Amino acid sequence: MTGIRLGISGLGSAAGFMIRAATEDPRIILAAAADPLQHPREAFVRDFGAVGHESFVDLCKDPTLEAIYIASPHEFHAEQAILALEHGKHVIVEKPLALALADCDDVIRAAAKSGKIVIVGHTHAFDPSIMKIRELALGGEFGRLGMILTFNYTDFLYRPRRPEELVTARGGGIAFNQISHQIDMVRAVAGVNVRSVRANVGRLDPSRPTEGNSTVFLDLDDGAAASLIYSGYDFFDSDELHGWIAESGVEKPTEGHSASKRLLQTDTRPERERRHLLAYGSRTFSSTKMHLPHFGTFIASFERADVRVTADGIAVFDAEGKRDIPLLTTSTMPGHRNVLNALWAAAREGQPCIHDASWGKTTLEIILGVLASAQERCEIGVNPMQSALRHDSSASKTNSVPQASHRRPLAQSAFP
Ligand SMILES: NC(=O)c1ccc[n+]([C@@H]2O[C@H](COP(=O)([O-])OP(=O)(O)OC[C@H]3O[C@@H](n4cnc5c(N)ncnc54)[C@H](O)[C@@H]3O)[C@@H](O)[C@H]2O)c1
Repeated sequence: MTGIRLGISGLGSAAGFMIRAATEDPRIILAAAADPLQHPREAFVRDFGAVGHESFVDLCKDPTLEAIYIASPHEFHAEQAILALEHGKHVIVEKPLALALADCDDVIRAAAKSGKIVIVGHTHAFDPSIMKIRELALGGEFGRLGMILTFNYTDFLYRPRRPEELVTARGGGIAFNQISHQIDMVRAVAGVNVRSVRANVGRLDPSRPTEGNSTVFLDLDDGAAASLIYSGYDFFDSDELHGWIAESGVEKPTEGHSASKRLLQTDTRPERERRHLLAYGSRTFSSTKMHLPHFGTFIASFERADVRVTADGIAVFDAEGKRDIPLLTTSTMPGHRNVLNALWAAAREGQPCIHDASWGKTTLEIILGVLASAQERCEIGVNPMQSALRHDSSASKTNSVPQASHRRPLAQSAFP
């Protein structure tokens, strides 16, 4: 079977990870890219003998491309996904799918009309550990899900940022960028719909005036619940609890606390310039020992076991004690590799991917619900038509859950 000729939109930090995964995957041909910045474009053309475009439209017009990975800034995702679909391309689009629910609907319609697939990712729901917990959970291995706890303390707000990344209305802050990972991990493992959201978010630093911390409670079908905690204020680093292994799986220095914040204050270069150093061709990847990617601590509690994400797999704590299930592979980017696996399975084998455009819309609805709930201090209902793929395990017995009394639906245009 011939390889998939892939084009890339946006050669920034996200693209660097996907490119690394693609270079390890003989089924993917890195054929073209579009980015308004000359430097990453030239580096990409040089490294892969590929074609570089300044404009996304020109990338779409390339008849040799079968799929496009969209890793441009959030505000372009929906329009680029639609244009790519209209040009007959399969689409992988970074999270979030869009910034408004109506735009998600447009992508869903464009996908249906074109017959092409949309995969929303990468998110950490594609991590081998999360996919393994999902597989075991949906197979009924541990019985009914009771709750999920996930928390992550990072330096998110103090990494070099584009100006719009600090403006919530333009998709900035942790809600669109980071909580989206947590929501997707919870939804993937739970395999059931999210009924409602209650949340509190914080803006603790006026110099980075967007959401930087959050406490989210998701009420799930089947009577389970999830707690999602996030802080991007660069004080505590929860990788300390993960053997000092970074999100990508590389070992990291232990003196990290507040380092990004200090660098932001002392580095005299403009932040935009430092941001560009993360683009393709400017960044070098660590060659230290690789572990699995992760997104903070993740513990799922079932009837018969607690299951935790570990550095190299998952740990199951049950009546027999603790057992480790190692999941290391030869890939240095196994989460991104799983996105490419999903592309191949969908494009070549006709297998559906749960992380489709409808999935992306529901995740956005929950993100918007987080912001609305925090602002209005009430519980926000989530549309029951969402596309969490339901499992039919007999181990799962539906609890009777009363309707929330102080719940209101999310307004379509709600942007708190
Ligand atoms: N899944 C992950 O692990 C992960 C990690 C980082 C970022 N992301 C996501 O990837 C996306 C990009 O984030 P990033 O951190 O790489 O940003 P970035 O600023 O590092 O890169 C964005 C790139 O897009 C280019 N660009 C700007 N306008 C464009 C346009 N109209 N068309 C094409 N390219 C354009 C910029 O020049 C830049 O090179 C966001 O959706 C972000 O949430 C995902």
